[in-house]
Amino acid sequence: MAEKKYGHFDDANREYVITDPKTPWPWINYLGNEDFFSLISNTAGGYSFYKDAKFRRLTRYRYNGVPMDNGGRYFYIKDGDTVWNPGWKPCKTPLDSYECRHGMNYTRITGSKNGVEASVLFFVPLHTWAEVQKMTLKNQTKEVKTLKVFSFAEWCLWNAATDMENFQRNFSTGEVEVEGSTLYHKTEYRERRNHYAFYTVNTEIQGYDTDRESFIGLYNEFAEPEAVMEGKPRNSFAHGWSPIASHYIEVTLQPGESRDLIFLLGYVENEQDKKFSAKKVINKEKAHQLIKKFDTTEKVDAAFAELNQYWDNLLNIFTVKSGNDKLDRMVNIWNQYQCMITFCMSRSASFFESGIGRGMGFRDSNQDLVGFVHQIPTRARQRIIDIASTQFPDGGCYHQYQPLTKRGNNDIGGGFNDDPCWLIFGTVAYIKETGDFSILSEQVPFDNQSGSEVSLFEHLKISMNHIINNLGPHKLPLIGRADWNDCLNLNCFSWDPNESFQTTENKGEGSKAESLMIAGLFVVTGKDYIALCKQLAKEASNCREGEIAGLAEEDYLVEADRMQQAVDAMSEAVKQYGWDGEWFLRAYDFFGNKIGSNENEEGKIFIESQGWCTMAGIGQEEGLCGKALDSAKERLECEHGMVLNNPAYTTYHVEMGEISSYPEGYKENAGIFCHNNPWVIIGETVAGRGNDAWNHYTKILPSYVEEKYQTLHKVEPYVNCQMVAGKDAAKPGEGKNSWLTGTAAWMWYTVSEFILGIKPDYEGLNIDPCLPSTAHEYEVTRKFRGGEYHIVVKNPEGREKGVKQITVDGKVIDGTIIPCSAGKHEVIVQM
Ligand code: BGC
Ligand code: NOJ
Repeated sequence: MAEKKYGHFDDANREYVITDPKTPWPWINYLGNEDFFSLISNTAGGYSFYKDAKFRRLTRYRYNGVPMDNGGRYFYIKDGDTVWNPGWKPCKTPLDSYECRHGMNYTRITGSKNGVEASVLFFVPLHTWAEVQKMTLKNQTKEVKTLKVFSFAEWCLWNAATDMENFQRNFSTGEVEVEGSTLYHKTEYRERRNHYAFYTVNTEIQGYDTDRESFIGLYNEFAEPEAVMEGKPRNSFAHGWSPIASHYIEVTLQPGESRDLIFLLGYVENEQDKKFSAKKVINKEKAHQLIKKFDTTEKVDAAFAELNQYWDNLLNIFTVKSGNDKLDRMVNIWNQYQCMITFCMSRSASFFESGIGRGMGFRDSNQDLVGFVHQIPTRARQRIIDIASTQFPDGGCYHQYQPLTKRGNNDIGGGFNDDPCWLIFGTVAYIKETGDFSILSEQVPFDNQSGSEVSLFEHLKISMNHIINNLGPHKLPLIGRADWNDCLNLNCFSWDPNESFQTTENKGEGSKAESLMIAGLFVVTGKDYIALCKQLAKEASNCREGEIAGLAEEDYLVEADRMQQAVDAMSEAVKQYGWDGEWFLRAYDFFGNKIGSNENEEGKIFIESQGWCTMAGIGQEEGLCGKALDSAKERLECEHGMVLNNPAYTTYHVEMGEISSYPEGYKENAGIFCHNNPWVIIGETVAGRGNDAWNHYTKILPSYVEEKYQTLHKVEPYVNCQMVAGKDAAKPGEGKNSWLTGTAAWMWYTVSEFILGIKPDYEGLNIDPCLPSTAHEYEVTRKFRGGEYHIVVKNPEGREKGVKQITVDGKVIDGTIIPCSAGKHEVIVQM
């Protein structure tokens, strides 16, 4: 049965084109990639914020509303008695045509009605604290058209959390100013805030509104604002209640004529002593400057061209030509784009993450780095320092920090014992990409306390030590509150529904709860750490000072040795106590009972330990990896990907925690938690099983899903989502929690480094593909440390793994590492 399609890819323009506004769920995009961000749905819903979706929310949004996706930047066009919106919502007047194009940090929504076309281009210009909305109105009829255009944005009172709860205060604080065509929002500016927002348009206006009730009417909906319906702005001035910004513009268009209106939603910060230009009057100087930068079509078009150029440059760092469009469009466009978004947002703001729940995650942001570091290494570098600055002297860490303050907090729990390892994961990815060892000498504080600084290398060391210092009865890592699977709460024992599993007291004392996932993660990152130490030994002996981050060659060799012993011991412990016969165990619980064992009734096998222990290659020679991968395939795989555990838990297990709180097939209880599928896929590539790797990979590759299931899948078909309902769910294949997921970075890492096999390494690019036997040839262009490598991989015999020979600029090289050198290079790889 063919499913209805709501859109399609336009690869040449790097866009996803939505052709029906009634998508199965709002399909969104992100504007901005630095400080100022907006979320925008295909019907122009969403909101804007500066840096931090919790503390600096500019416009208001209503999550989980009825109808769905309420609040946004709305344009109402009144043409005679007909009122319509270019994005269909909120009036939902049937349009004569509709199209939404989501591109790289921009969205263009075009609607037409009764011979008038309105096309709005939304984007945040580079390095700018504002969203541009360029509206082009076209009269396609043979008559003169007189239109009444109303804009609309609703201000949030900055703190998105209190904005939704403290009405006894909020309804009295709202303040605005109006100056010409610019509507200013200055709530709380009189006291401690030094920032305000504005909404402007580059033409004279014939009226405005700044008070919501006056504009909409108390009992009306967004779909029927009184002012619009009557075609008369109220020129209202907000005092408290709910400040908004709406321009009223009368537009007359001759037959065939078109006209641009440029709206700008901006944010300004002033120095403490320059807050006011007169008593109670905000200093608008910076706003004026900002407005001037985007007040003509030419200026806006130039800024848009710059944004596109920026993305050309970013996406030219790694491109593939494989002859398979579905692969190419994900690798060349959407996967990399999603990595930029997860780098910027972590898990804070999406249509599933409210922007007030979670900030930047310690483990999440470190993992996001592997998808981003090749794009803008300098920003990755800063991120690593920011994250490490929230660590504690014993290697433990805050689980998250708010982007605005960069201070760690326990708002979403703490004491997850996998966290420290991820710092090594992220840092190593950065150094391999850039060759910049100097980052390890950076002086980085603990818990942001100045005076506590030690080198970043020292942070890595104590991260490893944190695992070594927290081993359980089987010499396996103690799990703490939980590991990567933060719903495996083995020390929580909660019977109180008012407690959050993530923040409730952890009964760690006397616990025997150990994690095989952390064991595998420790071996993988431990090996990375050892390789790093060995490389540092070399670098230290070669450099003039004879040391790096305060340590000399000998120190690094000793450290590498120490860690090798720890890694070997961990591998042994896994083999001895972590093998269940056909697969790796998942954990031991508080009492020392097995989890993820054939002995268990439910949850016999889990994906995370199969992934990490096979990535680590533990027991490879003894055949354990092959067996574990086969078991994962047999028991976890289904049509839509691999589920997290099997069989699903059918009842609540107090000794297990949140995992068993979910109904079967959802989230961490046997959902297809896409993030962890790549772990098994990489495990498959380590074992050289290219066909299996490819099969698992394409099951969760958005472009493959797009082709098959738009209605069932529900969420955006151009990005990965966190979770797809698993085989035990009511609707297997239904996606949730799109956009902000570690899946993005892991899919990128998997395809770029392990399938296509282009791995940045200390001395150069290591080429080691693992392919399906149908892949006979492909090309990758990779920019890397000043060089540009055009790599052609030839696989006429359809081999899954094993490089036979590599030539660089016509010369055969030893081994598989292409040494770094500037300029363009032709590389031929024979499988
Ligand atoms: C979710 C997890 C999430 C955690 C963190 C849980 O309810 O199931 O996926 O990571 O909350 O807040
Ligand atoms: C989502 C969280 O962001 C991540 O940190 C966690 O590892 C996964 N859920 C799995 O529970």
